[in-house]
Amino acid sequence: MKTLRQQFTEHVAQTSPSPLMIEVARAEGPYIWTPPSPEHPEGQRFFDLISGVSVSNVGHGRPEVVRAVQEQAAAYMHTMVYGEMVEAPQVRYASRLASLLPEKLQSIYFVNSGTEAVEGGLKLAKRATGRRRVVAFRNAYHGSTQGALSIMSSPEGDEWRAPFEPLLPEVDWLSFNDFEQLGRIDETTACVVVEPVQGEAGVRPATPSFLEALRQRCSEVGALMIFDEIQTGMGRTGSLFAFERYRVVPDILCVAKALGGGMPLGAFISSRETMSTLSHNPALGHITTFGGHPVCCAAGLAALEVLIENDLIAEVEPKGALYEELLAPHPAVKEIRRAGLLMAVELGSSEKMYRLMELFKERGILSDWFLFCDTAFRISPPLTITAGEVRASCRIVSDCLDEL
Ligand SMILES: Cc1ncc(COP(=O)(O)O)c(C=O)c1O
Repeated sequence: MKTLRQQFTEHVAQTSPSPLMIEVARAEGPYIWTPPSPEHPEGQRFFDLISGVSVSNVGHGRPEVVRAVQEQAAAYMHTMVYGEMVEAPQVRYASRLASLLPEKLQSIYFVNSGTEAVEGGLKLAKRATGRRRVVAFRNAYHGSTQGALSIMSSPEGDEWRAPFEPLLPEVDWLSFNDFEQLGRIDETTACVVVEPVQGEAGVRPATPSFLEALRQRCSEVGALMIFDEIQTGMGRTGSLFAFERYRVVPDILCVAKALGGGMPLGAFISSRETMSTLSHNPALGHITTFGGHPVCCAAGLAALEVLIENDLIAEVEPKGALYEELLAPHPAVKEIRRAGLLMAVELGSSEKMYRLMELFKERGILSDWFLFCDTAFRISPPLTITAGEVRASCRIVSDCLDEL
């Protein structure tokens, strides 16, 4: 009889030569447990300092979310492709999100994932402006399907895109936070796609004045400004969406990850006027079977209410600051880059970072590095983590740092 891990390697398509290979038995709050083993008779407990890459913002197994999933699954699951039926969880979630968003972001197109939200945003911008050119930023990550991949840019250049060419033509990349290059956005530009905080570059926030200048340039030339808040959304940086802290409102907002409260859900959001262009010439300008699945919307809405009712977003900044206070003085830490509870702890060495990952795995810390930055490790725990749990996780992290 093959073990689960053997079957995983053989039959679950692998994404890299070195998966984490941690077997999951259960998860609750900021913890994930492995099944019992001779070494760990109760199962090994991991502090989840990744949140499934900024997904589990309300922690694992949150009762309100679990209940919403169970009740909706029992009532009905899929009934029809997106956009035809009036399904209460979807309508309620869209209305609740709209009540928290500015006037020009009132129409919510639900999809399945982050990359699909970006695809939808790109298509919408092309359709609404009648233009083809797309501007993105160096070191940006927007997803792995062919449209989102086309606007990805890594420090290694084309390495990630080249094997999958041809991709979208007419893409131009600007340097992040560089005012001088904004002139390259012109009357032929359909949209500019930007992360307010570049996550996979190793947590690099845009400066407020840069996003203001970018907003101004887009408005001047009629290009739509698309914010990718797939990683920064749903409270992660200390406001429901990062754009609120920048005082800049995008024309299209892409969200996913924590949007579904642990279930797969994405959305691109715009004005009713802009969004209406997807419903004619051609009608069905974007089609999705499962987008806005009622169980995912019920879970997402329950998670959003957990964030709001417990005032969790207001606690994000002090908890992030506590991590910084506890870890920054360690001699192995060169720098901490942080936006709320999205943090990169810079070690200045990829060897040290990979060694640290091994120590973390032994001691029960779940972290990883960034797609374009393997000299830093990630801290993005559930926003529900308590100050005591922040301290407890930092003690283990510091012990591991001591051993480097
Ligand atoms: C900023 C950003 N955009 C888009 C995506 C793609 O999201 P998904 O993996 O749900 O397609 C990610 C995923 O990490 C992301 O961090």
